[in-house]
Amino acid sequence: MTASDSTHSRLTFDLVKERASRLRAELNRHNHLYYVLSRQEIADEAYDALMAELRAVEEQYPQLRAPDSPTQRVGAPPSPEFKEVAHPVPLLSLSNVFTGEDLAAWHTRVLGQLGVAQVDMTCELKIDGLALAVTYEDGVLVRAATRGDGSRGEDVTANIRTIRSVPLRLLGDGVPRLIELRGEVYFPKAPFERFNDIREAAGLPRYVNARNAASGALRQLDSRETARAPLEMFFYAIGRLEGGQMPATQWELLSKLRKWGCKVCSAPDGHEAAEWVPVRLRSLDEVARFHESVKSRRDALPFGIDGIVIKVDRLDHHDRLGFVGREPRWATAYKFPAEQAVTLLRRISVNVGRTGSLSPFAELEPVFVGGVTISQATLHNEGDIQRKDIREGDLVIVQRAGDVIPQVAGPASANVRSAESRPYRIPDDCPRCGQAVFRDPDEAVVRCVNARCPAQFERLLEHFASRGAMDIEGLGERVAIALIAAQLVSDVADVYALQEKREQLVELNLTDEAATDGEPPVSSEGAGQKRRLGEKRADKILAGVETSKKRPLDRVIIGLGIPHIGSENAVLLARNFKSLQGLGAVTSEQLDEVEGIGPEIARSVAAWFANSENSDVVRKLRVAGVDPHDETPEPPADHPIRGRTVVVTGALQGFSRQQAQDAVKSRGGKTAGSVSKKTDFVVAGAEAGSKADDAKRLGVRIITEAEFVRLLDGELPDPVPSGAPSDPGEETR
Ligand code: IVH
Repeated sequence: MTASDSTHSRLTFDLVKERASRLRAELNRHNHLYYVLSRQEIADEAYDALMAELRAVEEQYPQLRAPDSPTQRVGAPPSPEFKEVAHPVPLLSLSNVFTGEDLAAWHTRVLGQLGVAQVDMTCELKIDGLALAVTYEDGVLVRAATRGDGSRGEDVTANIRTIRSVPLRLLGDGVPRLIELRGEVYFPKAPFERFNDIREAAGLPRYVNARNAASGALRQLDSRETARAPLEMFFYAIGRLEGGQMPATQWELLSKLRKWGCKVCSAPDGHEAAEWVPVRLRSLDEVARFHESVKSRRDALPFGIDGIVIKVDRLDHHDRLGFVGREPRWATAYKFPAEQAVTLLRRISVNVGRTGSLSPFAELEPVFVGGVTISQATLHNEGDIQRKDIREGDLVIVQRAGDVIPQVAGPASANVRSAESRPYRIPDDCPRCGQAVFRDPDEAVVRCVNARCPAQFERLLEHFASRGAMDIEGLGERVAIALIAAQLVSDVADVYALQEKREQLVELNLTDEAATDGEPPVSSEGAGQKRRLGEKRADKILAGVETSKKRPLDRVIIGLGIPHIGSENAVLLARNFKSLQGLGAVTSEQLDEVEGIGPEIARSVAAWFANSENSDVVRKLRVAGVDPHDETPEPPADHPIRGRTVVVTGALQGFSRQQAQDAVKSRGGKTAGSVSKKTDFVVAGAEAGSKADDAKRLGVRIITEAEFVRLLDGELPDPVPSGAPSDPGEETR
């Protein structure tokens, strides 16, 4: 360990210690508010996230586990507002594993304790909801209680009766005299979105996630309020049973539940049963595969899950395995990386876009969410921030939407705020050039309308050189900013004159600060430090500039940064007008006539070329040798793919995704990113996931790569009755 390493780790430890103490104080405050004063100031999810963070910290640094830590409290008493209900058999929680290794360790312990070489495991989905115990006497629902602290919960019988998926009377014969069933109440995804829209329209704040909404609905003192929320419940366990026979296995238990008319987590409509129903497995490999497969399809599920639950199948084994604390040894949750976390919103900064739009973004205390560390997240626009009342200094819930772009869902706690905290407002002056911004009353965006604002040009230059446009290697954000600051370029065409300024390019100063746009600097010592570009990188950029001269016309058009022109429109423009010169001479009427180009785009293109500064740039580009001509032959008018929509999914052997899409477009077909009723073909490569499922559900023809190749050659695949799988092998999967 070097001296700087040890300084670093001491620094880290101090930070962690401070964080732990802050978390403890926060959690204890909320406990008091909630349990003593009957006030809830933060969403359950946010509370859980704070607790999870503290647990993780204490796990890693056991010396920080203070006796006053809320993690040392086993559960907590229920809210006094509801009637209290004792749970004769406590509701347990589950241990978690996050990796295959942890899972294997759990499995080894189970086998060791049972003294067996293998064991059947029933694997279910881990529903992201709230645990509930529902008691039936002689088959009739008599009571429903929340988990509470596991030993005592809240009586929510009246509310639960409003949930249609909870039977008021169990079906069939052989219903035990008394049985307590357990499961999870949840708010399905689509109704949750609608529910939130209705709340918003009524001037109420949106719930940050479905679990909070379910919890809110369940804890209504007036059950008519609960009834407005389309909650649902999955059953998965028996808590207590008298006057009846306990099933021998978890597998049998689930099938019994189903027979009694209880909803058991199983295939949603349109999904192949085997993909979703609980599965009974024997090897860890199979469990790992099930976990992977569920993970890759979770977005397609109509309800939220956060992992799978693995349960030793034989119930007599459960008795032998017992518990550690409140966690049974016979089950564990194999979780997906969290997709939500709570962290501190340090600052709201503003980015100035290529067209001058000001986009606020969150600078966060780095936090691990969904498998990555996030230090920045989008905040959409000013209106959205104000609606959610997100403020600088707040603890916020960060989520990775659809596993991609991190977002701030909302404040986790509206009340750790200091007296100085104010609702957020985008600055009145552009944070970059200082000129007054323009707030268009019709648009959600605030714009810097100064055409000379350096931020806009920086974004444009970066965009021009980006992979989707001219693809100039080495010319990224940092270099773009430095080139402009050093006045080596004053428009994008000047890039082609850099060869003559090689000396200056080599000496170009790259400042960390200039490049950050709010990002934390790479290293703390490096902040604000100047670095020179150097020979190697300068030559790489110059070589990149040279090769970029050969980019096809549509890529050059993208690079110009004409508002509203993305790759699809750029291809249309290139195919129709053949060269920069051709494009520069078109009128808005001619543009309007192009199929696929709407009036807004037509106006945008015409206006862009009408600006003399822009047409000068185009002229300069042509002089510099950037003057491609589109030579794509006209697609045959009678090609069967013409006018049809194709979705490509999974990995193809002979094409990249882009190549496959280009092949479709060059024959007059259209491509789309998701499957709808309007899709004509879904090309399914290896590991085709949810899109193939969507196609099956919608009865869209799925074709193999071989059929796709023949289709490109003009041969339509055989029609197949709608809904039937195109590959007979699929059914037996
Ligand atoms: S079994 C001892 N099965 O996860 C058995 N729980 O993190 C505990 N949960 O308190 C319950 N889906 O609220 C079980 N298929 C499932 C579940 C599930 C979600 C919840 C349950 C539990 C929590 C533990």
